Amino acid sequence: MTAVLPSLVLALLCLLWAGAEVPVQPGFNAEKSAGTWHVAAVVSNCSVFLKMKDGMKSSIVTISFMPEGDLAMKLVWPLLDRCQKFELLFQQSGQAGHYMGTSAQEKRDLRVMETDYSHYAIVHELHQSGQEPSTALQLLTREQDTSPQLLQKFKELIPTVGLTKDMLAILPKSGKCQEGAGWHAW
Ligand SMILES: *[C@@H]1O[C@H](CO)[C@@H](O)[C@H](O)[C@H]1NC(C)=O
Repeated sequence: MTAVLPSLVLALLCLLWAGAEVPVQPGFNAEKSAGTWHVAAVVSNCSVFLKMKDGMKSSIVTISFMPEGDLAMKLVWPLLDRCQKFELLFQQSGQAGHYMGTSAQEKRDLRVMETDYSHYAIVHELHQSGQEPSTALQLLTREQDTSPQLLQKFKELIPTVGLTKDMLAILPKSGKCQEGAGWHAW
């Protein structure tokens, strides 16, 4: 117990620090942000991502909310010859648009930094698993095609969260795993 406490305190400090730095969409409306999104671009300093990013394709994310306000995120990533499905659950934090995900192996802190609900959302994620924390910013779009203006807006946010443009991947369409439906199958 005494050994766990100091690292817990450090982890909390880390989250509080992030809270002070990362803005959240004012008046965030969860209902309006539900539904299907395309992951158009990702920037992250996660070492696994940096190794893989040039081969990554755009994926589909479906966002839904539980009655008590928790957020469920279902992702389909095109991986080689198949569509890999993931599901992530996040608990609502005290602030609208701010969510926390915890499992035995990892901790995630998710903030919707900016969204107009009908075209784009910019999501900030802090991820802690193992030793090193990593930060990611994702550009989600309702349509598969992203406007240059939106990409520009996204790029301008990169340095504000402590990341650099060489960590950016603009994800090309894959033409696969696009249906986004079929969730009842599993
Ligand atoms: C990623 O960036 C964040 C914020 O600058 C930093 O706290 C973290 O240590 C970085 N992680 C890696 C793996 O470089």
